[in-house]
Parts: sequence; C-alpha cells; structure tokens
Amino acid sequence: MKNVNVIKHPLVLHNLTRLRDKRTGSQEFRRVLSEIAALMLYEATRSFAVVPVSVTTPLARTSGVRLKREVVLVPVLRAGLGMLDSILQLIPHARVGFIGLKREESTLQATTYHKSLPPDLSRFEVVLIDPMLATGGSAVAAMDLLAELGVRQVRMVNLVAAPEGIRRVHTHYPDLPIFTAAIDRKLNEKGYILPGLGDAGDRLFGV
Ligand code: PRP
Ligand code: URA
Repeated sequence: MKNVNVIKHPLVLHNLTRLRDKRTGSQEFRRVLSEIAALMLYEATRSFAVVPVSVTTPLARTSGVRLKREVVLVPVLRAGLGMLDSILQLIPHARVGFIGLKREESTLQATTYHKSLPPDLSRFEVVLIDPMLATGGSAVAAMDLLAELGVRQVRMVNLVAAPEGIRRVHTHYPDLPIFTAAIDRKLNEKGYILPGLGDAGDRLFGV
C-alpha cells in the first residue's frame, strides 16, 4: 500500500504481541505502549528534513545538521496519550497539541470534544499520534482539523490499522504517510479491529 509503512522491527513486534495479549493489565500496557512508541517514532521521523550547520567541537570546526522545522506532536485523546511521553523524551523541544475525539458506539462517528493546536501549522513538522486506526473516522476528523490550520508536513504514528481505515484515510488524504506496526485482518460488526488489541483507551486507563 502506498504511503503505508509497516514497521516490522523485532522489538516492535515483540511488544505488540504483549499489547495484544488480553492478560496484559493496564500498568504493563502503559509501559509497553510507551516503549513501542519510541521505537516507532524513530522510524517515522527518518525523513524529517534537516539543514546543514557548522559546529565547533572542543577541538575543531566541523559540519552537522539541525532539524529544518519545529515539531508539533498531536496525540488523539485518549489513547494517543499512551504514546506521548516516550516520544517527548526523544523530541523534548517539540510542542504538543491535543485533539479529543470520541467514537460514538452505535454510529462509529467520531465527535470532536477538544482541540488545542498552534494557529498556523504550515511551518511545522506535525506528528499525529493514535495507536488505533479502525474505520478511519477519527483519523480523518483529526486530519480535517490539522488541514484547516494549514498543515503541510504531517505523518501519522499508529500501532494497529485495519485495511478499511487505511483506505478511508487515504481516500481523503492520499499523501499522509502512515507508520504502523500491523495491518490487521478487518473490522468486526462493532467496528473493532480483528484481531486487534481491544479498546486501547480502556486498556490503557482501566476505564
Ligand atoms: C479509539 C482510538 C481511535 C479511534 C479509532 O478512540 O484511540 O482514536 O478509536 O477508531 P476509528 O478509526 O473507527 O475512528 P475512542 O473513540 O474509543 O476514544 P478513547 O481513546 O477515548 O477511548
Ligand atoms: N478503537 C480501539 O481502541 N480499538 C479498536 O479495535 C477500534 C477502535
């Protein structure tokens, strides 16, 4: 699939298996999701633009690089929060915006209940963070908000995706690179990913 990067690193896959396991409780789920998020971010940011700079070491002058653009991380509440802390450890200078979305159980429509984002996103490198991509309704709603604010450089860090969700997101935003650890089989009749890992928000927070 174009613009879908499946990260098949052994550590990612090992951790994903622990997250899928129904015996993994909230405390371990939080820790493992955090670990996996850092590994995924490393891959997802490989193509961040850099500019050359010169730097003086204690011994000599040499060349180096710095990131071309400031970074804005945008976790989708709630489950995206589980990936934020470890990503922030890797990019401590990043700004953090938030999008709160809730999927209504019967219609599977995503409703926005919160947003706090910089007013102009055009100059930023934006990383949209949500572990679950099911119907794709939430990801499209999040992208609509980012697009309204002029986002240009954006990628999505996801953990488990359904083929239906990827298709829907790419129907609306064909150029959005999606980084995921797995493309699962399909959605069940309630819109859950099969085999998936269940409700990520509930497993993270125990509610
Ligand atoms: C989950 C998940 C995604 C969304 C994916 O959130 O974290 O945001 O579902 O489903 P979709 O692709 O069909 O839109 P949910 O709405 O359950 O909210 P929560 O994280 O607060 O539990
Ligand atoms: N949201 C989740 O947390 N899990 C799914 O399987 C689908 C949507």
